[in-house]
Amino acid sequence: MGQKEPAELLELSTDTRDILESNRLRPLWEVQEDFGHVFDEMQADIWKWEDIQAAIDGIESDVPIAELPPGFQRRVAVPINAGLNTAVSNTIYVGIQTVSPGETAPAHRHGANAMRFAIDGHEDMKTVVAGEEFPMEDNDLITTPQWEWHDHVNDSDETAAWLDVLDLPLILDSMSRSNVFENHELERQPVTKTQGYWDSQYGRGRPANEKSGDIPGPFQGTREPTPPYRFGWDEMLETLEQRVENDDPDPHDGYSVAYVNPSTGREPLFPTMSFRAQLLQEATDPHFHNAVEVYFVVEGEGATHVDGEALEWAERDIFVVPPDAPHHHDPDGEAVLLGMTDRPVFEAFNFYAEATPAE
Ligand SMILES: [Fe+2]
Ligand SMILES: [Fe+2]
Repeated sequence: MGQKEPAELLELSTDTRDILESNRLRPLWEVQEDFGHVFDEMQADIWKWEDIQAAIDGIESDVPIAELPPGFQRRVAVPINAGLNTAVSNTIYVGIQTVSPGETAPAHRHGANAMRFAIDGHEDMKTVVAGEEFPMEDNDLITTPQWEWHDHVNDSDETAAWLDVLDLPLILDSMSRSNVFENHELERQPVTKTQGYWDSQYGRGRPANEKSGDIPGPFQGTREPTPPYRFGWDEMLETLEQRVENDDPDPHDGYSVAYVNPSTGREPLFPTMSFRAQLLQEATDPHFHNAVEVYFVVEGEGATHVDGEALEWAERDIFVVPPDAPHHHDPDGEAVLLGMTDRPVFEAFNFYAEATPAE
């Protein structure tokens, strides 16, 4: 019996192959080729606002919210990544939702965390979260933490549109048992709080003698829960502009201001997702990281170069940078982006990695 070459050692007898297959077992050296397969499918991608606008206008005129089938009952156009089939990325879901004057998107709650970023806002367009009406004015960001009741009520005379951003793919793919969902018995939940209540509880004065850390719903964890909260755009812009006057930009992200969890004063806003307002004045240096980045263009135009491909963007476009893809931004003058990332998921496990490409 001669000595076998390494390649021959990998050949399995028909008997062994049968035993493995009939018992749903596979040798590691065959399985390892498939590790990370799902994540590799995600691609750099962009959705132009004019196309999104046409889509949301079309579905708004065709389908009243009241006629939507039971379930989420939201009128939303969902960008689908060219390499995936349900969302813009493998962890972060983005949708563009509309509510016509006089309409209500009925009250419900679920395990996924959500935030709204108002595109066509109005002071009389309200998202009602945990008993409080939050006005949705242009570029406001409002949190809908997991398991809080929420409905969207348009008392204005204009169609309202906003971004919904949820950790839905992560929850559906990795933690399907957490995808609990419930409709409220009423179309509109009772408004039990005065306007400004939630915001006022997370300023420099905090409720005395109150224990923190209660996570809503059937969940447990170690992260400080995110409260219902509205981040007004003027305040974010003021912080950015003060940084421009006084500080140096980050080489990869420009001037970058985080939406912090109001209960901790730190990132991330949600345990699963982090959000930043980024002001760009000049081209950034390339880098890459294992976290996904999704961007919404708040103001300005330019391009983001991903793996040699140029994503040319203008106001209100949405684009996505896949994991491990070298990228840099190149604004045409000054631009402001809303950056969204699943980075906190990696950081929670000490797995976040970032590097600059070799010259
Ligand atoms: Fe919802
Ligand atoms: Fe990046």
